Amino acid sequence: MPTKTIIEPFRIKSVEPIRRTTAEERLQLIEEAGYNLFAVPADAILVDLLTDSGTGAMSTAQWAALMRGDESYAGSPSFTRFRESVQAIFGFRHVIPTHQGRAAERILFSVMCKRGDVVPNNTHFDTTRANCEFVGAEAVDLPVPEAAEPARVLPFKGNMDVGRLERLIERTGRERVPLVMLTVTNNSGGGQPVSMENIRAVKAVCQRYEIPLYLDACRYAENAYFIKMREPGYADRSPREIAQEMFSHADGCTMSAKKDGLANIGGFLCTNDDSLARQEENLLILTEGFPTYGGLAGRDLEAIAVGLNEALEEDYLNYRIASTAYLGDHIARSGVPIVQPPGGHAIYIDARSFLPHVPPEQFPGVALAVELYVAGGIRSCEIGTLMLGKHAKMDLVRLAIPRRTYTQSHIDYVVEIILEVLARRQQIGGLELAYEAPFLRHFTARFRPLVARTV
Ligand code: F0G
Repeated sequence: MPTKTIIEPFRIKSVEPIRRTTAEERLQLIEEAGYNLFAVPADAILVDLLTDSGTGAMSTAQWAALMRGDESYAGSPSFTRFRESVQAIFGFRHVIPTHQGRAAERILFSVMCKRGDVVPNNTHFDTTRANCEFVGAEAVDLPVPEAAEPARVLPFKGNMDVGRLERLIERTGRERVPLVMLTVTNNSGGGQPVSMENIRAVKAVCQRYEIPLYLDACRYAENAYFIKMREPGYADRSPREIAQEMFSHADGCTMSAKKDGLANIGGFLCTNDDSLARQEENLLILTEGFPTYGGLAGRDLEAIAVGLNEALEEDYLNYRIASTAYLGDHIARSGVPIVQPPGGHAIYIDARSFLPHVPPEQFPGVALAVELYVAGGIRSCEIGTLMLGKHAKMDLVRLAIPRRTYTQSHIDYVVEIILEVLARRQQIGGLELAYEAPFLRHFTARFRPLVARTV
């Protein structure tokens, strides 16, 4: 009989101490950082939920594989193992390694897009949008309408609105839409999954207009597991088989191996198109490296080759999805407004509802993230008016869970701090911008608080 308690399917062999700080110290640190958590030193963070990207713990099998890393400039057997591992799951003809996901995006958009083009996506991640706009194309988000209703519990709120996709292609003309993208899971839209049915429906539209479909595949394993749990007809299929089917509907993908590659660095770009692959490899050589390493060390390729397979293990995915939901369910039960249902890699607090007295132009997401840091040393990430500017439909604070890194008591602590902040939310004020960069401003922005704060 299955037990009620879902345990971490691993034991711990190596530990990394984390340092406690006082609220007074944290207040001073956040002031010095211009109220931007990206500027706070990581050793002054207690529980770091800034991102699930590159922050996971590698397995013994991955650490062992590192030692097999072959650092030959050309033709490394590590690349062969990497490519075989990718192809067995993703199935694409060409596998182009990159140092991380955004390098794959830059190369993809440089080759496929030109000024005036339009790229539809369920929701572009910030680097995807920035890379698309950098080559002069327009990044258009087409999430289903339910995605904008944080409290609604639906199985596949990451889906693309297929009707709007068709109307957009009709309006702009097929020749100005060089590709369509689907982000699985939809990170900026709350970590919500995309159903197989939606992937098929988007593909059908793409086929009709002869437009290639690309998956932004960062969290493909988590998406596959949600399909297994929630979509009729998939309960008996393995996450690997489901992932293979997801990719079979696509013409290529971009991937950050720092997420469901369970690696600390790396990524890749895949395509079935020989001519595109040639152009992409030429660009790769210009800035990333020779096509058998693409800016990565041979040992990184080995770690990814193993990690991609571990991310599809059912025990792991069951623990992963359950432990993220544990955080979401515990805070939601006590009245914290979150994007429902809990996502795969993160819980998103709806900061506009959490701080109804702070208007969007005073950055409620930043205000809440700053408060969680001062109160408990927790680092989170705003996904809202700061990150997305005028495209922001919500102000969210993302608590991203690094893979295999924190235990349940860390998460219980996070719950306690969030509830303590909830109890005195009326005292939390907004902020105004003191500095912003022309793009990707959230990384370097600095703020002034509009309400003076003491501990
Ligand atoms: N696409 C999605 C959906 C992502 O979430 C990310 C990264 C990227 C592309 C870019 O990949 O970082 O390897 O260059 N997301 C991280 C995050 C940074 O915190 O969500 P990268």
